[in-house]
Amino acid sequence: MVGGVRAAASVPGGTRREWWVAEDPEGNGLIGYARSIERGGLFELTEFFVKPSAQSRGVGRALLELAFPQGRGEVRSIIATADVRAQARYYAAGTAARFPFFTLAREPMSAEPATSLEPMRIEAGADASAVTQIERSVLGYPRVDAEVRWLTERREGWLYRRDGRVIGFAFVGTRGSGPVAVPDPADQPDILAARRGSGPRAGRREAGA
Ligand SMILES: CC(C)(COP(=O)(O)OP(=O)(O)OC[C@H]1O[C@@H](n2cnc3c(N)ncnc32)[C@H](O)[C@@H]1OP(=O)(O)O)[C@@H](O)C(=O)NCCC(=O)NCCS
Repeated sequence: MVGGVRAAASVPGGTRREWWVAEDPEGNGLIGYARSIERGGLFELTEFFVKPSAQSRGVGRALLELAFPQGRGEVRSIIATADVRAQARYYAAGTAARFPFFTLAREPMSAEPATSLEPMRIEAGADASAVTQIERSVLGYPRVDAEVRWLTERREGWLYRRDGRVIGFAFVGTRGSGPVAVPDPADQPDILAARRGSGPRAGRREAGA
């Protein structure tokens, strides 16, 4: 039996979004939730989970209809898992597979950062317009200020310059890394090498992207 589905509390940031939770009809708490964000015409499903004991009984369908309704956004996007139930729901929601996504990992190796690279720490609360400019050039839209603030408060952020020109940025944390953006592929090896050997993930047995 499908539990009640209701709108959850809002999150900071001012980006229009839906956040819905499903409650167990027997009163045993939450059994699932789904959330989406909307920014600059991009409407994205960011989380979609139902407890294993409640899956395949229509809870996901009810959540998705509320959190990712048709007709919203110029581009509708989901970074999907390979879960067959998720894929069934996403096709039914009018989206189609566009490209595969890979996670790559290996044991960290030491690498000398290029001496021409000028790393600069992005402090919490600092002007992050260089980050948003790069994101706009790569993705077509920027992150809102509240999201950049959220990142700088939780992850180590680095801006990279070469010959005085900003060439990319990277955020690294103990519980997750990214975003990383480097518009010119020729600059990418140096920035990845600089990130690999230092920061909160140094000393880890595995490094991934
Ligand atoms: C994805 C998820 C949220 C969907 O919630 P749910 O409550 O299980 O979904 P529903 O019961 O509404 O729908 C499941 C659909 O998958 C279909 N399905 C179930 N098993 C299937 C299988 N083996 N092969 C193909 N389709 C299958 C069902 O028939 C149903 O489609 P229908 O309503 O058209 O008949 C939930 O299964 C989940 O938490 N999975 C693990 C986490 C995950 O991968 N989340 C997605 C993150 S992107």
